[in-house]
Amino acid sequence: MTARFEGKVVLITGAGSGIGRACAQRFYAEGASVVLVDINAKGLDDTAAQMPDSSRVYLMVSDISLPEICHAAVLETVETFGQLDILCNIAGMLLTGRIEDITPEAWQQILQVNLTSVFFLCQAAVPELTKTCGNIVNMASTAALTGQAYSSPYGVTKAGVAMLTKSLSMELAERSIRVNAVCPGAVNTPLATAANFPKDATPRLIDKLMSFYGFAEPSEIAALVVFIASDEARYMSGSVVPIDGAQTAG
Ligand SMILES: NC(=O)c1ccc[n+]([C@@H]2O[C@H](COP(=O)([O-])OP(=O)(O)OC[C@H]3O[C@@H](n4cnc5c(N)ncnc54)[C@H](O)[C@@H]3O)[C@@H](O)[C@H]2O)c1
Repeated sequence: MTARFEGKVVLITGAGSGIGRACAQRFYAEGASVVLVDINAKGLDDTAAQMPDSSRVYLMVSDISLPEICHAAVLETVETFGQLDILCNIAGMLLTGRIEDITPEAWQQILQVNLTSVFFLCQAAVPELTKTCGNIVNMASTAALTGQAYSSPYGVTKAGVAMLTKSLSMELAERSIRVNAVCPGAVNTPLATAANFPKDATPRLIDKLMSFYGFAEPSEIAALVVFIASDEARYMSGSVVPIDGAQTAG
């Protein structure tokens, strides 16, 4: 691995599992100092166990659905490593069910975790990213690009993340802060493999959630995230990029 992120500080939410963990591993392997945020303490410990240079790793067990925690995460990053170069908003949850099954509490929770947190982490990060000409990578989904049955609140949050990405890319361009989003299809993580669709779901609608290539591996999504976050992607901003094995191509 090259050390293209040496001297860079990366804040990654959802680093205790799946795609967030894979991103954390990749940034660390390429020389970055990483701040790893997750509500799951054991998951964070398992991620950090693969990172022998503890001077480049800082763990935060926190619930990012609370705006004050989002601001605290950025503050702690700067207090610990002196700067913030890259914000990766990866943490998220899935909520499945028919529209009749969604309670007001569940609707609120998925909005808070998947969308509100991304907004307030971006808000907290912008002053620091202005100093470093840094960038933001948000984790959206193919659910931001096409309608998907039995998970409408999830799709709404991911479409919100996609539009937040585009809007901020415009607003922040004069400060040279790039903002992009990635839209994976089905990825081999607990979120997707434990997805619990209605037992009597229409098979054709479930089939549309999958690619002919099957599941992606988290490391394959992380490879795209680190490219977008790197200086090689200098001209890339406001992009909402599918990585879905042609799931949404036709
Ligand atoms: N797996 C897929 O098929 C897939 C497809 C498209 C997009 N995504 C998105 O990728 C992102 C990562 O998901 P994943 O598949 O790696 O799932 P995952 O369940 O493996 O990881 C999600 C992580 O987010 C953390 N998290 C959840 N709520 C949190 C909160 N309130 N505060 C802090 N941390 C919290 C979890 O503890 C977990 O470690 C999510 O935003 C998800 O929507 C996943």
